[in-house]
Amino acid sequence: MSAIRNRSASLTRHSVRTRLRRTRRLFFHWPAMQHAARGAVAATSLVTPAADPAPVRGDGPWPVEASEQAVAWDEGVITYVGPADGLVGFEPEWFEGCTITPGFVDCHTHLPFAGWRADEFEARLSGVSYRELHGEGGIYRSARMLAEASDDEVLAFCRSLVQEMADHGTTALELKTGYGLSVEVELRQARLARRLAEEAPQTCSVTLLACHAVPEGMERTDWVRAVCDELIPAAVQEGLVDAVDVYVEDIAFSLDDLTEVARCASQVGLPLRCHADQLGPSGAAEAAVALDAMSADHLNHVSAAGISALGGAPATVAVLLPTSTLFLRSTLPDVRALIDAGAAVAIATDFNPGTSPVLSMPEAIATACSLYGLRPLEALAAATVNASAVLGLAPERGTLAPGRPADLLVLDGDAFRMVPYRPGHNPVVRTFVEGERVGGR
Ligand code: NIG
Ligand code: FE
Repeated sequence: MSAIRNRSASLTRHSVRTRLRRTRRLFFHWPAMQHAARGAVAATSLVTPAADPAPVRGDGPWPVEASEQAVAWDEGVITYVGPADGLVGFEPEWFEGCTITPGFVDCHTHLPFAGWRADEFEARLSGVSYRELHGEGGIYRSARMLAEASDDEVLAFCRSLVQEMADHGTTALELKTGYGLSVEVELRQARLARRLAEEAPQTCSVTLLACHAVPEGMERTDWVRAVCDELIPAAVQEGLVDAVDVYVEDIAFSLDDLTEVARCASQVGLPLRCHADQLGPSGAAEAAVALDAMSADHLNHVSAAGISALGGAPATVAVLLPTSTLFLRSTLPDVRALIDAGAAVAIATDFNPGTSPVLSMPEAIATACSLYGLRPLEALAAATVNASAVLGLAPERGTLAPGRPADLLVLDGDAFRMVPYRPGHNPVVRTFVEGERVGGR
């Protein structure tokens, strides 16, 4: 590498690190700073979304595959992406028949939680609906399980799941509250999420799902008031959360509640997210766009107006959660209409014990392609740079380019299409976060 290229790489490194350090103080975890890594990999193919624009929408540009490519990094920051035979000063580890991609960003999960609900899954297969289970089962049951578990038990349960996510290629993820259902326990869950974020090998952001279910014995409007007057201010004061989420549904919260929580979140500078149009149509997608939310998630029953709003949304990403659609055997959103309208779409797992006990991004990608008709390279952008935008991490995370953190994967298969083509197969050979090997086989 020439002296000039070296100098520009280190300048870029410096500016990215300074920027991310500043960000971390406010929001995020920077796990590998003390263990900066140098390395390089080369493979039969490489595919990444373009460094800009983020997110990718409508007509693209969608990622383009190139053959015989290499990525090199120093101090955890990418210094080279390009033809393997153009890499100077590094001896890359060569992966024949494999594909290099950016790490997957899982921008919608419900970790931390404490225990499974497989019996509810079985009951649903016998005809009981998710709505009918809501009470004895559902969110309320996960809240009881969380309340009964000690902090150590919750963390022990989640730790191995987070490692399993790394082994499936997740290099950044969202953690959420929403199983607290009181001010005190929501704060406890947010603290547990922060502790998990500190321990996790990945970059994590924490969302306060302040309105998930109305606490038992409380009026909905009283809970919304407590969220605005007590929960959000306390979470902000402790520096616990990076965003606020509301579940808009007939069994949960209304559009007015969403507007109220959005107002309180914006007063303290927290971005908004929204579980929108999952079990039925409510107009939540278009409301989320009008409120400048970072995302409208689920969208199984999104209306034509919602599709058009998301198509023209400057800030709001349409987050698709195909494995939860599969598990609930829900109505499919018209994803092609969303993309054609110009929406930025992301894919996430929605990992939770009720509607999506799936932590694998390759599985979510495969399901998005087969169920929603996403094309493999659209799915790649949706699972990387667009998901990163939802968490406020784009364009640093989710693309491969000099100056960006070395969050990348080596996948078996000589083209990315092998990932959706082989559901049930874990394609991840290596997972790197900031150049550190954190998962794979
Ligand atoms: O995104 N529907 C709302 N929340 C979750 C499910 C939570 C649960 O069932 O525990 C979801 O699907
Ligand atoms: Fe969810």
